[in-house]
Amino acid sequence: MSYNLLKGKRGIIFGALNEQSIAWKVAVRAVEEGATITLSNTSVAVRMGDISKLGEQLGAEVIEADATSVEDLENVFRRSMEVLGGKIDFVLHSIGMSPNVRKKRTYDNLDYGLLEKTLDISAISFHKMLQVAKKMGAIADYGSVIALTYVAAQRTLFGYNDMADAKAMLESIARSFGYIYGREHHVRINTISQSPTMTTAGSGIKGMDSLMDFANRMSPLGNASADECADYCVVMFSDLTRKVTMQTLYHDGGFSSMGMSLRAMDQYEKSFDKYRDENGNIMYG
Ligand SMILES: NC(=O)c1ccc[n+]([C@@H]2O[C@H](COP(=O)([O-])OP(=O)(O)OC[C@H]3O[C@@H](n4cnc5c(N)ncnc54)[C@H](O)[C@@H]3O)[C@@H](O)[C@H]2O)c1
Repeated sequence: MSYNLLKGKRGIIFGALNEQSIAWKVAVRAVEEGATITLSNTSVAVRMGDISKLGEQLGAEVIEADATSVEDLENVFRRSMEVLGGKIDFVLHSIGMSPNVRKKRTYDNLDYGLLEKTLDISAISFHKMLQVAKKMGAIADYGSVIALTYVAAQRTLFGYNDMADAKAMLESIARSFGYIYGREHHVRINTISQSPTMTTAGSGIKGMDSLMDFANRMSPLGNASADECADYCVVMFSDLTRKVTMQTLYHDGGFSSMGMSLRAMDQYEKSFDKYRDENGNIMYG
């Protein structure tokens, strides 16, 4: 259902790769709500993924850019203003990648060259995007910028590796830049901390199926889907949230406030069954 929340607004969506991508769902919802948008991803992603199909479906130009390149980002903002006919009202940063995770380097055996790449792609690209936009005057006053993050920035989760450091930095950039951009142009900058979601990036996380099941059992409202995340992004891009800025906004069914739930406890106890004696007491061995 459309509420026309983004009627007349212009946006840029970074990071749609395929139909599972959170950015894909956000792009579709934003257009449903009346926005006109451009899409951006790396040239490899454009070649290997389905973003061109999405562009055709939504009537959106696809602009190739490596988000670690200031020059590429300048081109995305310049071209988007040309195509869309004015300043940009909203931006989604939906970009994350860890070469250390890909190469199966554990957190106590990181390759530091690869760590720099993780941070550049997953966090510093957000700063570059904001700095480029501000210098070019590309984001309209009262615009809204969102980056997607994960609770591993606050709490240690097995296997999330150096992406946890990248997410902590990403959230910090949202606060630091949010202050400056808010003060000068009323632009609001927030991060949305999403439940584990089965996407190309998500499936790279160690033990993703178990993590999703655990998070779902722990969350009173259950895991938030990519479609639900898109709904939340639309609200944050809309004029209904004009005084929300510099926040990490949890979109996780309540997971981040939980310690233990009955549903998780119940599952956890099952693992003890084979270690119980005839009286039902756990044998610790
Ligand atoms: N899937 C999850 O469980 C989950 C949970 C919380 C937050 N997030 C975050 O959501 C965002 C989107 O991820 P997703 O789950 O939709 O997966 P995805 O794989 O569909 O999206 C990741 C995107 O990053 C792009 N990318 C990688 N390197 C890039 C570069 N140098 N320049 C520009 N783009 C680049 C990829 O091409 C891809 O489109 C990421 O920031 C991710 O960390 C995901």
